[in-house]
Amino acid sequence: MFTANQMQNEINKYVAELPVLRHPEELYKPIEYILSLGGKRIRPLLMLMAYNLYKDDVQTVLAPAAGIEIFHNYTLLHDDLMDKADMRRGKKTVHKLWDDNTAILSGDAMFVLAYQYMAKSVKHQSKMWDIFNSTALEICEGQQFDINFEKRNDVAEEEYLEMIRLKTAVLLAASMKMGAIQADASEKDAELLYDFGINIGLAFQLKDDYLDIYGDPAIFGKNIGGDILANKKTYLLIKAFQLANEKQKQELNQWIYQPTTNPEAKISAVISIYNQLDVKTVCENSILGYYNVAMDIFERVSVDDDRKQEMKNLINDLMYREK
Ligand code: IPE
Ligand code: IPE
Ligand code: MG
Ligand code: MG
Ligand code: MG
Repeated sequence: MFTANQMQNEINKYVAELPVLRHPEELYKPIEYILSLGGKRIRPLLMLMAYNLYKDDVQTVLAPAAGIEIFHNYTLLHDDLMDKADMRRGKKTVHKLWDDNTAILSGDAMFVLAYQYMAKSVKHQSKMWDIFNSTALEICEGQQFDINFEKRNDVAEEEYLEMIRLKTAVLLAASMKMGAIQADASEKDAELLYDFGINIGLAFQLKDDYLDIYGDPAIFGKNIGGDILANKKTYLLIKAFQLANEKQKQELNQWIYQPTTNPEAKISAVISIYNQLDVKTVCENSILGYYNVAMDIFERVSVDDDRKQEMKNLINDLMYREK
């Protein structure tokens, strides 16, 4: 058994040594750039940790784990373009440092690189591709819902939850399921780990929405209030609309649906309403709710308790993350 730290080091080393640089440089430099900025590498780590619940030769899954991480980073290049985000991992986003076309094309190349590394998975290729392909498509669906919701003022909580299941949770879930499959875990365990991952993923995206408002930009690495400026229907906004009185609703509607020339004023006005309604606590409780559901599911995975501890610790840290 390995510690999460040991596995994280393995992944970091493997990704750092990926031979990504080829010609033309304009295509590959941005790939090297985004991968060099690190990030939490949580998806490949979950894959290795799910594998390590059953088997110890975790090196076996480093290539598909890197594939997942490259895939995730590809979604970030396109996501930052779509969300008009300037900062990621404490540095300029690719479309800011280069331009829009670079983010599109380097993203496309990463998508292909992800498939190349995924193709190095050694076992159960057909199952692996089924999961990877359906997950990749679901992420596009989730991202489209996310964009559609920017223009809607009647997004229900259930619709939001389905959107984040698709754009975020399925990749965490698939990472764990693929790790389990590579380790020849039972079908039942693989499914349980998938459901565990979905609940962790929902909590993870709620926390991401939360940090977009309450995070420290120096730690979180992204600009605060980006979701407000993009009129994202986040958990906080949906809850605020549910809890607001008429006056607060009117004020929120005004800020969200009327054009403004003062983005700073928009961010602080919306946050002020969030604070009046204490949606921060509502969000924290909901994160805890999904965490608890996830942990109940994890209990049912047929692995000895002592082998599960490392995963439990990691998920706990993830819930209290600040970046
Ligand atoms: C950001 O993912 C996109 C979301 C799904 C919230 P991460 O929070 O895992 O970003 P990095 O890879 O650690 O930078
Ligand atoms: C991103 O959600 C989900 C994907 C990249 C697929 P967000 O748009 O909330 O992620 P951040 O906040 O930009 O990292
Ligand atoms: Mg974004
Ligand atoms: Mg987005
Ligand atoms: Mg976000």
